[in-house]
Amino acid sequence: ADLQPFNTLTIAARARYFAAVTSIDALREALTFARDKKLPILPLGGGSNIVLTDDFPGVAIHVGLKGLTMCEEGGATRICAAAGENWHQLVMRSVEAGLGGLENLALIPGNIGAAPIQNIGAYGVELKDTFDSLQAMDIATGDLLRFTAAECEFGYRDSVFKRAARDRYIICEVTLKLPQEWQPKIGYPALAQYLASAESSATPLTPEQVAEAVIAIRNSKLPNPVDIPNAGSFFKNPIVSDAQYVALKAQHPELVAFSTGDDWKLAAGWLIDQAGWKGRLRDGVGVHDRQALVLVNPGHREGGQVVSLAREIAADIQHKFGVTLEPEPRFYP
Ligand code: EPU
Repeated sequence: ADLQPFNTLTIAARARYFAAVTSIDALREALTFARDKKLPILPLGGGSNIVLTDDFPGVAIHVGLKGLTMCEEGGATRICAAAGENWHQLVMRSVEAGLGGLENLALIPGNIGAAPIQNIGAYGVELKDTFDSLQAMDIATGDLLRFTAAECEFGYRDSVFKRAARDRYIICEVTLKLPQEWQPKIGYPALAQYLASAESSATPLTPEQVAEAVIAIRNSKLPNPVDIPNAGSFFKNPIVSDAQYVALKAQHPELVAFSTGDDWKLAAGWLIDQAGWKGRLRDGVGVHDRQALVLVNPGHREGGQVVSLAREIAADIQHKFGVTLEPEPRFYP
């Protein structure tokens, strides 16, 4: 099967087998099929965080599990969403219902099932802040297991599903727990600036207004994959020691960095921008002209092309700043 419609970088790779599943039983059946044939599995959600570097020699499984319920529990709202539900639609349903907690995560592409894997985050909020638990299927046995937040071992763009539990589970359902007493989180510089410059209203901010601000900011610099193929930030923001930060800051006073307590998180977009890559397009792949952290594939080129540009950028950043960039999306196979 052609996987081009299933990845937002629009890479035209093929999978040896393809299954679109919309039920737990069908998912289990697809896993059994792969196990019997000893084939690897490529779980597909929104396809917004994968790079297909070649044809996939196993079974691609599009996880189309649907269902969304909201319920009150002791004053807090729980949202139970199946893996195949769209993340942004979930955010909009919650803010339209007047519920706070997810508004900073508006417009993040992709589906619910992928959200915990890299602990999606934006504008000072991460999935883990409202995460309650998830249900996942063990690829080896077909059993359904529940993971608590602690068991997910969330970190910055990281979880157990990228480490010890990598390739061992398919996430089927995620339960979120929204805060009982909501406070807007508007400290992230770009968000604070936007809200300060917007028409000030006398009434306090609502979750919906914060979501609208986030959407406006994202639309002003992040390319919509429907128009320009991309996978969001292509690199994680690198974490450096205080000593390295101090040395870099002395050399580059404009360096953008956020304290993480002991260490510093550098804005990789700033580093790539400074190194002169922003807006460069070569042979159909390039660096977005409004956000240097986003690689774009307007030429619908193959994954190898995207990866070689990413390698070249990372090598240049290593050379110019002594900082190692790690890719954010998952490469397959
Ligand atoms: N910057 C530049 N030039 C650029 C890009 C950024 O100078 O070309 C500077 C900005 O001016 C700003 C700083 O770098 O001072 C940070 O930029 P931005 O606010 O756009 O955020 P980011 O650190 O580049 C991260 C996430 C995004 C998320 C935003 C907002 C990662 C890898 N990326 O980007 O997440 O939307 O913060 O919170 O952490 C994603 O993961 O796919 C993603 C889009």
